[in-house]
Amino acid sequence: MIALLKEFMDKILIEGGTPLKGVVEVSGSKNSALPCLFATLLTEEECVLENVPDLVDIDTACSLLSFLGKKVNRKDHTVTIQSGTSLSTEAPYDLVRRMRASALVLGPLLARLGHASASLPGGCAIGVRPIDIHLSGFERLGAETQLSQGIVTLKARKLLGKRIDFAFPSVGATENLLMASALAQGRTVIHNAAREPEIVDCANFLNKMGAEIEGAGSKTIHILGKKSLRGARHRVIPDRIETATYLLAAAATQGELLIQAVHASHNQILIQSLEKIGMEILADARNASLICRYFKPLKPLNIVTGPYPKFPTDVQAQWMTLMTLVSGKSVIQEAIFENRFLHAAELCRMGARIEVDGNRAFVTGVKQLSGADVMVSDLRAGAAMVIAGLVAKGKTRIHRIYHLDRGYENLEEKLRNVGAQIQRVH
Ligand code: EPZ
Repeated sequence: MIALLKEFMDKILIEGGTPLKGVVEVSGSKNSALPCLFATLLTEEECVLENVPDLVDIDTACSLLSFLGKKVNRKDHTVTIQSGTSLSTEAPYDLVRRMRASALVLGPLLARLGHASASLPGGCAIGVRPIDIHLSGFERLGAETQLSQGIVTLKARKLLGKRIDFAFPSVGATENLLMASALAQGRTVIHNAAREPEIVDCANFLNKMGAEIEGAGSKTIHILGKKSLRGARHRVIPDRIETATYLLAAAATQGELLIQAVHASHNQILIQSLEKIGMEILADARNASLICRYFKPLKPLNIVTGPYPKFPTDVQAQWMTLMTLVSGKSVIQEAIFENRFLHAAELCRMGARIEVDGNRAFVTGVKQLSGADVMVSDLRAGAAMVIAGLVAKGKTRIHRIYHLDRGYENLEEKLRNVGAQIQRVH
């Protein structure tokens, strides 16, 4: 109860107006670490994951693995997962409710034990988010699906490799089916697969575990099922959404950041968009760091979100904050989630001019935002409010920041190190 109250009562205070200058180091990718953690359910041998960020969603994933019977040891950014007691095949409501990615236990448990059940994740602030594409994929491999009292149960005596055609390149469904078909009998081919870097990372980890996966990162992925998988050690890729957030914070505050420990090519569309509007972006020869520098007034640019390599939905909110400050008009179209504009109303409370019509937001740049009390509706909306607070005149107080703790490691400290006046108050 006290922890819950604390969650609701913690706030971030920002005194805006300082251009960010200095060096920021990006953490490991949350959305890559999560499927990799759940992939360890596919083996009884020890797995070690490095560069795992210290985030609330990772805490939830580790609790779920422990609940299912794994021994999980976390030290700094390294997580060691070993077999404990025999595995349970049921993911409880309390953990699935906290994090939708918990549904990623279904594929590995089904493949390894022939049975898996989990509370069906409900909708969240950004959309309905069903898992029908995951379930029809499991059915193609021969699983029976049952839904009763909000719990989905999957059973299969044996999974058989098949051709699977996804209606939409869902990130989670691609990960779940990669994991399930890694232990299916025969060859599975996934058509219209998601192509996100997190899919490639998950496939690389599975291959280190002995899986035979080809084509991850393209629309068609081939998986030759194996009888069993072994333990492996893997380093999680850098978080491209955190990288994007710092690029946009540098642009909005008219600053200059050296962003380190990145994988620059994962942010290609954003880098091109920032260059088009007038920012200078330089990657080092190894693509492992980026310099992002403001040197002239920026121009507006329309964007449409889409599956990778298109503009990421997870960067749409932060881009909107930037556009509210660029002289002229721009249109932002959200094509992935049906309700991902809740940050627009909060930005308007800070003086932004945004009109939302269905899945499009029409933004007219203003000279300045002014500090206000604002509320966070989801993780990336939270990042958008932080960027707004960093540029706004005066004090911004951000409420419901527990969303931010799910996806940004040491956010205040990293921003303070580059000159932001930001603190968390309890
Ligand atoms: C992943 O969610 C990310 N989460 C999300 O990151 C990200 O926004 C999203 O991909 C899109 O890039 C993780 O990786 C843990 P999807 P996921 O399945 O897998 C619809 C963040 O802020 N759909 O690709 O749940 C769905 O409703 C987050 O870090 C179905 O209709 O995304 C949505 O409209 C939030 N049926 C669209 O597809 C399904 O069975 C994309 O969903 C599956 C999805």
